[in-house]
Amino acid sequence: MATNENQSESRTSPVTSYDFPLKKIPKRSCKDPEAIEFIRKSEPVILTDTNLVASALHWNLRYLADHMGDGNFTVYKSNSHKFKYYSDKKCKMVKEFKPPTQQTEMTFSEFAALLRQKQKEKHSNERIYLQQALNDSVGKTIVYDFVNFNWGWLNEQQKLNNWGPLTSNLLLVGMEGNVTPVHYDEQENFFAQIYGHKRFMLFHPDQYKNLYPYPVYHPHDRQSQVDLDCPDYKKFPNARNLTGYEGIVGPGDVLYIPMYWWHDVESLKDQGETISVNFWYMSGPVDQIETQISAQQKMARDKKF
Ligand code: OGA
Ligand code: FE
Repeated sequence: MATNENQSESRTSPVTSYDFPLKKIPKRSCKDPEAIEFIRKSEPVILTDTNLVASALHWNLRYLADHMGDGNFTVYKSNSHKFKYYSDKKCKMVKEFKPPTQQTEMTFSEFAALLRQKQKEKHSNERIYLQQALNDSVGKTIVYDFVNFNWGWLNEQQKLNNWGPLTSNLLLVGMEGNVTPVHYDEQENFFAQIYGHKRFMLFHPDQYKNLYPYPVYHPHDRQSQVDLDCPDYKKFPNARNLTGYEGIVGPGDVLYIPMYWWHDVESLKDQGETISVNFWYMSGPVDQIETQISAQQKMARDKKF
């Protein structure tokens, strides 16, 4: 069971601790042949020296507020530290579904001001998390930093691993302690940390038996029904067998999250806001995918809702 917020340990430790066994995600130079092999085998690895977002390491809340422009950004509001994703499109499939977070739009400077206000308010429970795909509305200096990402290294990886095209770059700006609960994505992901630190827990796709994904038609498709902070072992007995990996990423680190690997992300507690950009790629040819996902799960996924 997770150490809850009333217990003393969470006040001293910047990361929530859990009972299940967690091995360390390997951390390597991107030039290390072992690192290249991890990616080839669809296994997670933290890369320390890709220089992928070296051109953006001067980003902080103030810089982004000053340069991001007047475009609108999607900001989620939550009354707990959890920001559990849900699909807008699938909300109507489950009548009694109540979205766990509210989605709003605001400019980046409005977001930055709100975040500073929330950091001061000790008693408000409401948290915010900006999650917006980078698009053309961003200011000139941000475009300049973006253009200078290490696209050479990325393109090399894409070719080497036979991936499809880059689909999007999600910018994530979170408050300390925000958590994205355990879920998987259907794309390959290079997750680049720019400011502050995040703790990742990763679980191999074969852990779906222990993580009880919601049905595919449910708005929480691809999310686990198990609340890792407080697992209901009566309802989800296999959750007792859960095993995974963990690692902390800081500025300049890039975590490779293979497609279909479950992940839970926590911005470290009491350490200020976090800024990250991910790089989502379509997968390679299908035969590569089959090894990553059980036939049963694949069949459920292939039915389109
Ligand atoms: C992702 C992801 C969540 C977060 O990049 O796929 O789930 O809070 N990120 O960083
Ligand atoms: Fe994700």
